[in-house]
Amino acid sequence: MKASDNKATLSFSNGGQSVELPIYKGTLGPDVIDIRKLYAQTGMFTYDPGFMSTASCQSSITYIDGDKGELLYRGYPIEQLATNCDYLETCYLLLNGELPNTAEKEKFTRLVTNHTMVNEQMQFFLRGFRRDAHPMAIMTGLVGALSAFYHDSTDINNPEHRDIAAIRLIAKMPTLVAMAYKYNVGQPYIYPRNDLSYAGNFLHMMFATPCEEYKVSPVLERALDRIFILHADHEQNASTSTVRLCGSSGTNPFAAIAAGVACLWGPAHGGANEAALNMLYDIQKEGGVEKIGEFIKKVKDKNSNVKLMGFGHRVYKNYDPRAKLMQETCNEVLTELGLEKDPLFALAKQLEKIALEDEYFVSRKLYPNVDFYSGIVQRAIGIPVSLFTAVFALARTVGWIAQLNEMIGDPEYKIGRPRQLFEGSPKRDVKPISAR
Ligand code: CMC
Repeated sequence: MKASDNKATLSFSNGGQSVELPIYKGTLGPDVIDIRKLYAQTGMFTYDPGFMSTASCQSSITYIDGDKGELLYRGYPIEQLATNCDYLETCYLLLNGELPNTAEKEKFTRLVTNHTMVNEQMQFFLRGFRRDAHPMAIMTGLVGALSAFYHDSTDINNPEHRDIAAIRLIAKMPTLVAMAYKYNVGQPYIYPRNDLSYAGNFLHMMFATPCEEYKVSPVLERALDRIFILHADHEQNASTSTVRLCGSSGTNPFAAIAAGVACLWGPAHGGANEAALNMLYDIQKEGGVEKIGEFIKKVKDKNSNVKLMGFGHRVYKNYDPRAKLMQETCNEVLTELGLEKDPLFALAKQLEKIALEDEYFVSRKLYPNVDFYSGIVQRAIGIPVSLFTAVFALARTVGWIAQLNEMIGDPEYKIGRPRQLFEGSPKRDVKPISAR
């Protein structure tokens, strides 16, 4: 970390001794005030629920400029990666810090494709679930269970174990998501095909059956690959921070990633793509475009608890750059499938237009996020709504792993252990039950 010449001084109105705090500069973004010694120096903690002003780690992986609406993976703008690279190149970049050359890409692709099968025993574990279980419940279980199948890559402090676990997770997530889907619809599992691309293989495992040949559509393959790229990492979001915190105890990588999957499930995070599409369905059922005004009214009513799903972001106070790319992909996919007049897409565009002009959204800087359009693309591809968040988890796995490995390699890393402002009862004595 690069120390700044600037220092912060914390003074107290009661005349307590003031404290000087170091300030560090990143390569981009706001400086940070180092408060690690604050408790030792003052006997006080800082208070920041929701991490509104707290950097929980140093990182070199992903950078977001929320005001500009900019997203960089290892310094590269997401727009350039989404147009010039594929998902596996992006994985290589996130894991290793640089884009691969041709030979490196080939080697990495071979490595990943050599790990796409899962232990045959996994299907018996999967069979223990109800057929109608939510895919994210299944994924939380299956990913955690990988630690019971791959004992030779569970030591988080062993760099070789971490490397193999990373490749296994990236390679096996599509297989597991497709298995969860096939189990739900009662079709036979389809084994991975290593001659296909990462996205092509996923489409094949999802939609092929043993009775008919399945031809991967290049447009859908590219669209899915783009969904994967756009979701690959997003710095210290809730699920990534969960993975870091979970991994900080020294638990194995599969367990840490399973914690990330569980966190992602929530509708304020990865579950928003499912929630956004269900919201569009609901508006459509109620009467479609004509009912948008009424719906927006409900959203603005603080007592209604209704949110415009797929809108707003903790960091972006501008258009989410991923949403722009996703809207572009949405157009491409719908055109390819002859669904240009898709009523749900028309509804989404109209809803976006109205929200972007409304004072409530403008004043709060609420813009569409990636989830606003990703559901429409996934639905057009044929992915069921309940599987959307599992697809997000599949794509985010590389980001979780890169962040986890970065943390373990950081000499300053410690087990994560936040403090609290205690508001409960002071010490008191237990009375005998007859006297309570
Ligand atoms: N609809 C209506 N009002 C909203 C929305 C929304 N989607 N998002 C924020 N607001 C309001 C919020 O009520 C608050 O208003 P007020 O100042 O009057 O109290 C103001 O905007 C600030 O919002 P906040 O809740 O303090 O912001 P946050 O940073 O804590 O929450 C968020 C961010 C993403 C959880 C929230 O915007 C949200 O719930 N959005 C809908 C869910 C969603 O689309 N999530 C996906 C995020 S992107 C993908 C991912 O990273 O997983």
